Amino acid sequence: KEHIVEVEQFTADSKEAVETFRIKYLGKKGLLKEFFAEFKNVANDQKKEFGQTINTLQKLATDKVNSLKESLDNTSESQGVYNDLTRPGEPIELGARHPISIVKNQIIEIFSRIGFNVSEGPEIEDDWHNFTALNLPEYHPARDMQDTFFIQTNPDILLRTHTSSVQVRYMENNKPPIRTISPGRVYRNEAISARSHCFFHQVEGLYIDKNVSFADLKQTLQFFTTELFGKSKIRLRPSYFPFTEPSAEVDVYWGLETETDYRMTKGTGWLEIMGCGMVDPNVLNNCGIDPEEYSGFAFGMGIDRIALLLHQISDIRLLSENDVRFLEQFRGAL
Ligand code: PHE
Repeated sequence: KEHIVEVEQFTADSKEAVETFRIKYLGKKGLLKEFFAEFKNVANDQKKEFGQTINTLQKLATDKVNSLKESLDNTSESQGVYNDLTRPGEPIELGARHPISIVKNQIIEIFSRIGFNVSEGPEIEDDWHNFTALNLPEYHPARDMQDTFFIQTNPDILLRTHTSSVQVRYMENNKPPIRTISPGRVYRNEAISARSHCFFHQVEGLYIDKNVSFADLKQTLQFFTTELFGKSKIRLRPSYFPFTEPSAEVDVYWGLETETDYRMTKGTGWLEIMGCGMVDPNVLNNCGIDPEEYSGFAFGMGIDRIALLLHQISDIRLLSENDVRFLEQFRGAL
């Protein structure tokens, strides 16, 4: 019984003292071992009381050791590591933003200044949003323009081949005026090389309102390319997309004095950077917008190729290989 009092009153200010106490009571040759061995010699009428007392003692001693250890740990932490404001900081490795994110954010920022919001949609799409609503009915030969990864056929479920699918969703759910850009990852069954990959990233844009003209499209693109590339010349070449009419391809002129290897391979200063056009009335109809009342333009560009261009990266595969030696070069970029 006097041991119980001793245990209850025990305190310690060092881990060593706690350990000595622990060995004395709970160790292999400790007092409690002795008491338990003693138990069989105790007279029968005292067994009950003796048993209860040593059980209590064991529990008290165990609890005491644990609580003392814990409070000593806490005080050493607060006195040592956490309380000393003069300690030098740990060297923290800062990561770098991925070049795709850097360029994507730049594009979003430029368009946000002229009133475009950002919309997103699923990478796994149905046939309607990726093709049919965009004026590509079944068996339309233009479906072959984009080599599609199918997940399921009949009904067709696929990996989106462009983020035009997001624009369809946006038109279905919003009334004009519409000004939105849709960044995201897209997939095409293409051979992987230094110049192309089976997945890449796009930003597509959509502007729908009353009396929107081709001149508005051209002016918007001129503004955008100037903001992104600096002083730049662009040219629009007639082209074909099922969802726009008329359609054009946009080339940007890269001055010869800043010619990079990447552009040399094209053999000219003109570089194709996006497709665009006036939204086909069939597409507006498919998405519940009256083409008699509204018109609009759309455009789409690949972020990856623009990132190669702006950061003079020679191989598109570097963008998805997660090589730290490559990625850390973008440290400190926006
Ligand atoms: N969706 C087209 C593509 O993936 C790009 C584009 C968008 C072209 C809008 C015209 C208008 O290549």
